[in-house]
Amino acid sequence: MEFPNISNILSKSLTQSLFPSGYELTPDLNDFYELEIAFYEKQILSDDELLKNGGYFLRVNNQYTRHFRMCMGESLKLPAHSSARLKSFFEKNLFRTGYATHGLFPYRGKFHPQMIKGLINIMGLKPGDTIVDPMMGSGTVMVEASLMGISSVGIDTSPFCILMTQTKIDALTMSLTRVKKALDNYMEVFDYFEKKTRGRGVKKKTSYNLSANNSLSVMEDAAQYITKQTRGRLTKQQKETLDTYNFLLLAYLDSVGYSERSQRKTPVDLFKAILERYIFVAEKIQNVIAGMEKDLAVSKVIEADARNLPLDDSTVDGIIFSPPYSFAIDYIENDSFHLDFLGVDTGSLREKMIGLRGKTLSEKFYLYKTDMEKVISECSRVLRKGRICTIIVGTNNNQLGKALKKAPDEVPGLHELLIEMGSKLGFRLIKMMSRPIMGISNTMRKEYILMLQKY
Ligand SMILES: C[S@@+](CC[C@H](N)C(=O)[O-])C[C@H]1O[C@@H](n2cnc3c(N)ncnc32)[C@H](O)[C@@H]1O
Repeated sequence: MEFPNISNILSKSLTQSLFPSGYELTPDLNDFYELEIAFYEKQILSDDELLKNGGYFLRVNNQYTRHFRMCMGESLKLPAHSSARLKSFFEKNLFRTGYATHGLFPYRGKFHPQMIKGLINIMGLKPGDTIVDPMMGSGTVMVEASLMGISSVGIDTSPFCILMTQTKIDALTMSLTRVKKALDNYMEVFDYFEKKTRGRGVKKKTSYNLSANNSLSVMEDAAQYITKQTRGRLTKQQKETLDTYNFLLLAYLDSVGYSERSQRKTPVDLFKAILERYIFVAEKIQNVIAGMEKDLAVSKVIEADARNLPLDDSTVDGIIFSPPYSFAIDYIENDSFHLDFLGVDTGSLREKMIGLRGKTLSEKFYLYKTDMEKVISECSRVLRKGRICTIIVGTNNNQLGKALKKAPDEVPGLHELLIEMGSKLGFRLIKMMSRPIMGISNTMRKEYILMLQKY
């Protein structure tokens, strides 16, 4: 056999072999699944579609993609006084998570936005279609879909998730004039929310001395509009007031949560830093989409139960969601300050939250399975035939092993359970990819992306 021309073979990178010249991937793609999604995007999308909505390309046919522009921002740079930590966060995660309004609240268990964009593409969804996330959490799917011109419906049982998601969507287009003014008066704004916290008897670990004088009538006005019923009927000015209020409230809740974990800054200084970052993030994406606002699609955010979706049969073109990983994260405990602030009855919310129902571990696991069966059955009901439901779920074998009194390597993976449920409820698995999970304790090491087609 002739000796292969090694230098020739090795001179071409894998990506050069996979993609024609003039196509450049976003930097720092380290995982195999990322390369896979990029490869499928190139197969499924036209060049124009890749330029507009592709998630993994920096350049297509030698032109910069919209994803590249969203991540880099146009003329805007980080403010000179930003901390080194903030700068390095932005640099490292620029193309994966550090764009659009995704950074507005660090919700635990949040999707990688770039992955969601790629998945929406390889599920064959196009502008004008409708996608649903029945357990939307912080609304990553809604923000991505809106930017791609794909209508979306986001559902969650947690009122805090409703606030987070709605704010991230509104921040794509809202006027930032008033939040910038509020930044000049950040101490008064912080005091306003602190007073509300105390008035409601919400428990907090950190303490803070209120300033004597504080009356922000804007806030009082806004507080009146915060009912879901009236939202659609607000005048332009009322809507702007509500958007401003929600934006400031989310920054406040973020800063209090943060100050309970880290003592490095006072809560009010954290509030200022977080609000500055929020404004920076919103301004950056607004600069990129300026003039294209009409291309954004409508996102509807609904407080409801994924086991009983408020949607008609066969009306949806795609579904993406990530269920709780059985009982790995207690979302109510995590968000207790935020839920208390919003006046939520956490006892009755717990009854609806999948993964939190039940007393003993084995009862919890049993209820988790029956609840997830209902969710998948609902997904099958609302999805159009031939369309795809993508579920992203991690392994949680250590906790499951305890529940089932088995060794961790003997318990079935959650992904296997969900595939089996899907196969009984009208779905066929057409693709499975896995991705490593970084930064979470080693009870979860892998996450699976399951693409189920409705037949
Ligand atoms: C893993 S998180 C989703 C995170 C989301 N993918 C994101 O990007 O932020 C799971 C979500 O399921 C929600 N959830 C739990 N039980 C639910 C139910 N019965 N109906 C709807 N949502 C529920 C929780 O509130 C939580 O936000």
